[in-house]
Amino acid sequence: MKTAHVLELYRAAPLPMRAFLRGRLLLSDLDMVEAQVPGKGDIVDLGCGHGLFSNMMALRSPARQVTGIDLDAGKIRHARRSAAGRRNIAFRQGDFLKSGLPLCDAVTIVDVLYLLPAVEQLRVLGACRRALKPGGVLVLKAQERRPRWKFAITWLQETAATTAGITAGKRGRLFFPSRSEALAALEAAGFIPEVVEMRRRLPYPDVIYIGRT
Ligand SMILES: C[S@@+](CC[C@H](N)C(=O)[O-])C[C@H]1O[C@@H](n2cnc3c(N)ncnc32)[C@H](O)[C@@H]1O
Repeated sequence: MKTAHVLELYRAAPLPMRAFLRGRLLLSDLDMVEAQVPGKGDIVDLGCGHGLFSNMMALRSPARQVTGIDLDAGKIRHARRSAAGRRNIAFRQGDFLKSGLPLCDAVTIVDVLYLLPAVEQLRVLGACRRALKPGGVLVLKAQERRPRWKFAITWLQETAATTAGITAGKRGRLFFPSRSEALAALEAAGFIPEVVEMRRRLPYPDVIYIGRT
C-alpha cells in the first residue's frame, strides 16, 4: 500500500481536513515510524487524532488489530468514518490519562506527549509499560530540543495549534523533553530505550524512541 492511499479513506471529509492530513503525510515521515511497529498483534495508538497513522498500520498489515484512542470527539467521528467496513481497526473516544489501556503487543504514540507536563508523560509511559504483553514494544515519535532552529519551528507551529484549539492541549503550554530527559523517563517507566534517528531533510527535530520490555 502506498502512503498516499491512506488519504483515500478520507475522501468524504471536508477539504481543509484532507489538506491538513495530506500535509501531515508530507511532513511527518510516518512510513519510518510504521516500519518500527510489529507486523501483527494488538496495537494501541494513543492520541490517534483523525486516525491517519492508525489507518496506515491497519492497511499495511491485516494481521494487526489496531485500536486508536483520542480525547477529541470530532476527530474520532472522522476516524470512525474512515474505518467503515474494515475489521482490523477500531476507534475509541477517551482520555488515556483517565481510562486504563487494553492489554496489547505494541503501543504507538505519534506527536502527542509534548502536550502533557513531564509528570503526566511519566504516568502515560508507566501505563503503556503495564499494558504491554511480555516482549511488547512502545514506539514513540517525538521532538527533541535540538537543533535549535528546528525546535523553534516546531515550538511556533504547535503553540499556534494549541492556542487556536486545533490541537487539544494546555493552550500554548508545551512540554518537549530533551533526548536525555526522554530516555530517562522511558527507563523510569521500566523500558529498555533505544533511539531511531529520523531522516534529516524535514524542518522538525523529530526522533523515534523505542521502548522495549
Ligand atoms: C498533534 S495530535 C497528533 C495526532 C496523531 N497522533 C497524528 O499523528 O496525526 C495530538 C493528539 O493527541 C490527543 N490527546 C492529547 N491528550 C490526550 C489524552 N489525554 N487522551 C487522549 N488523547 C489525547 C489530541 O486530542 C490530539 O488529537
